[in-house]
Amino acid sequence: MAKGKITLSVIKADVGGYVGHSSMHPRLIEQADEKLSGSKEKGLLIDFHVTRCGDDLELIMTHTHGVDNQEIHKLAWNTFTVCTEVAKELKLYGAGQDLLSDAFSGNVKGMGPGVAEMEFEERKSEPIIVFMADKTSPGAWNLPLFRIFADPFNTAGLVIDPTMHIGFKFEVLDVYEHRKIIISCPEEMYELLMFIGAMRRYMIKSVYRGDGEIAAVASTQKLSLIAGKYVGKDDPVVIIRSQAGFPAVGEILEPFTFPHLVEGWMRGSHHGPLMPVPFYEANPSRFDGPPRVIAAGFQLANGKLIGPRDMFDDPSFDEARRKANDIANYMRHHGPFEPHRLGLEDLEYTTMPQLMKKLEPRWEKE
Ligand code: 13P
Ligand code: 13P
Ligand code: MG
Ligand code: MG
Repeated sequence: MAKGKITLSVIKADVGGYVGHSSMHPRLIEQADEKLSGSKEKGLLIDFHVTRCGDDLELIMTHTHGVDNQEIHKLAWNTFTVCTEVAKELKLYGAGQDLLSDAFSGNVKGMGPGVAEMEFEERKSEPIIVFMADKTSPGAWNLPLFRIFADPFNTAGLVIDPTMHIGFKFEVLDVYEHRKIIISCPEEMYELLMFIGAMRRYMIKSVYRGDGEIAAVASTQKLSLIAGKYVGKDDPVVIIRSQAGFPAVGEILEPFTFPHLVEGWMRGSHHGPLMPVPFYEANPSRFDGPPRVIAAGFQLANGKLIGPRDMFDDPSFDEARRKANDIANYMRHHGPFEPHRLGLEDLEYTTMPQLMKKLEPRWEKE
């Protein structure tokens, strides 16, 4: 790791739902807390915070070992494993759902858990926000990340703060072709939008300020592409740095006043609105949704996580929640019809191939 830098790692997995896929049993949080406390005492971690969004267990950790560190990934993996034991004992739903392998091989990437990590020099004051979502997938961050870092109608700082006039660079993954590209804004805004508007294939992995300073990192793991079948959605997280040369806290939260349509919801197979909620309301129950997002705000102090503040616990997001419920009603009326239900190309990892096979002999030329 580079001298004087700290690393913020957010690693998450669904290790068992309570009840169904709607929420998390408190014993899983206790177990994860206990496991990470031990590592903090041993000095591997500077600090940590364990939380959950819906049925997803979120490990927020600070340390000095850099991104993709084997010890940190192993700690996360072992934490998910011991929590899975508790989930099995309580017969929670889908115990160990996101752990796609029995053996840890040095890095949790590609093994099921979602990962977002960044290493940086802590500033005089370092406000960060960790967004965590349930019942959706990583493409859900494309729209808010664009608005935060490239839309002056959202982020006044892009106009008012001269340190942001150098713009932001977006690292975009093509998850089908396993390749990536860097696109700069504002110069290449139209090119960027052409790609990231296709949220299933192109995902913003990270955002850098024009001078190369890291601003945001998202988890982009797509479980179905790893497992080759439907194994739950890839409920994503994103870390965003704020203030003083980055968008202000309020500018980072602002895009979530619009509950945009994302994929996920029931069986990971439907479009629905992304509803911003306080921590205690992150229990997607109606039709296993609608999709939720929570925002945990922290001030870092020498790597210590001062927080979290529950950033969506604010009546100014009530209207977004109300609108999300209206949209949810509207979308639900479509039942099994598109565009509520995902298109066929998105259902290729569900039971669709089996059904195709079963009916194959009965198709005849018309
Ligand atoms: P303060 O003057 O309260 O620090 O606010 C500045 C700012 O960035 C508001 O978004
Ligand atoms: P999760 O991905 O949150 O486990 O949800 C899966 C599901 O099928 C919900 O209906
Ligand atoms: Mg689940
Ligand atoms: Mg989930």
